[in-house]
Amino acid sequence: MKEIKKIWRARKWMKSNEPFLYAWHAHVGYVHDLFDEFESGSTVSSVATKRDMNELLLTRWADVGVAIGHLTNEKNGNIRSKKHMVESISKNSDQSVGILLKEMMELHIPILLSYPDLLNKDQHALYQDEDYGGTVAATSSFIERFAFPKIYQAIKSTNATSVIDFGAGYAGYLSRIGAKLEHMKLVGIEKNRSVCLDAEENIHFPLKSPINLYPDDMMTWKWDGEPFDVAMMNNLLYYFAPEDRVKLFEKAYEVTGKDGQLLIITPMHESKHGLAFSAAFNSFMSAHDNLFPLPSRKDLEELAAETGFQLKQVKPVVKEGAWYFLRFQKV
Ligand SMILES: C[S@@+](CC[C@H](N)C(=O)[O-])C[C@H]1O[C@@H](n2cnc3c(N)ncnc32)[C@H](O)[C@@H]1O
Repeated sequence: MKEIKKIWRARKWMKSNEPFLYAWHAHVGYVHDLFDEFESGSTVSSVATKRDMNELLLTRWADVGVAIGHLTNEKNGNIRSKKHMVESISKNSDQSVGILLKEMMELHIPILLSYPDLLNKDQHALYQDEDYGGTVAATSSFIERFAFPKIYQAIKSTNATSVIDFGAGYAGYLSRIGAKLEHMKLVGIEKNRSVCLDAEENIHFPLKSPINLYPDDMMTWKWDGEPFDVAMMNNLLYYFAPEDRVKLFEKAYEVTGKDGQLLIITPMHESKHGLAFSAAFNSFMSAHDNLFPLPSRKDLEELAAETGFQLKQVKPVVKEGAWYFLRFQKV
């Protein structure tokens, strides 16, 4: 009986790991554009020759894909990608979420796998912004679609005409504002120079208001123009140690005028929703010497009180991810 129980437990853990296979397979396909290669049906050997790949490993990858339903094996011996895999994973598809797999498989999973080593005090990991800045900025923008209506409402309801976005990433929020509203002053500050340059080149909406982006560190950047009505800091807090976050709020206070607002989209820890996700997020963050844990609502309220803001609104954006919209106002 004991032995059966043991085997049953082993089976349970094996099965709990099965979803990893889908993510692994899709990630390999994303990185090497393999779903495109097999889109119209090809043999493994012709793709291996064309792409100068290891044919045995490509065969194994194709076998897994057929087994889990990412690929089909046709009667003539060709392998063909399922349409939904081309659409949802390939880099060329405008519906692609492949970049999220890249972030998970190359950034999150490796650091979680090195957790046993990192628990030893002498081991350290650093987040390499030059390697992953673009990926992280791109995956953050998946939240935009759900968060933007809340930001838009905060701008409209206060008749705000100027917005500064700190840590603007690919300027998705500013572009959405600029696409909807005329006569807005829109400014973005983005520390990662290549993200900032890409953002300038790839604004994907026709704009009614122009956007000015500056490749700068927001902490040293100085603004001597008219104060802004709204400052935004979306998905930015975890780049700053909790003891330094007061400077972010002070910066928002400094650049906004009377009745100025600070809008923040962020995952929060110890919130009503998404506890498992925010706990895992914090494991990932704290494993790096240069990334920091998510704030709780109480942390943010304290920062606001210290710097002359008051928390006026908190709304969930993506519940399972503990993502929230927070609106602060100068008192
Ligand atoms: C996770 S991304 C979020 C991008 C965008 N705000 C969004 O929510 O989609 C955070 C961005 O903040 C930028 N950033 C981090 N520290 C910064 C600083 N001190 N000054 C300006 N930008 C910074 C990073 O380079 C990164 O592109």
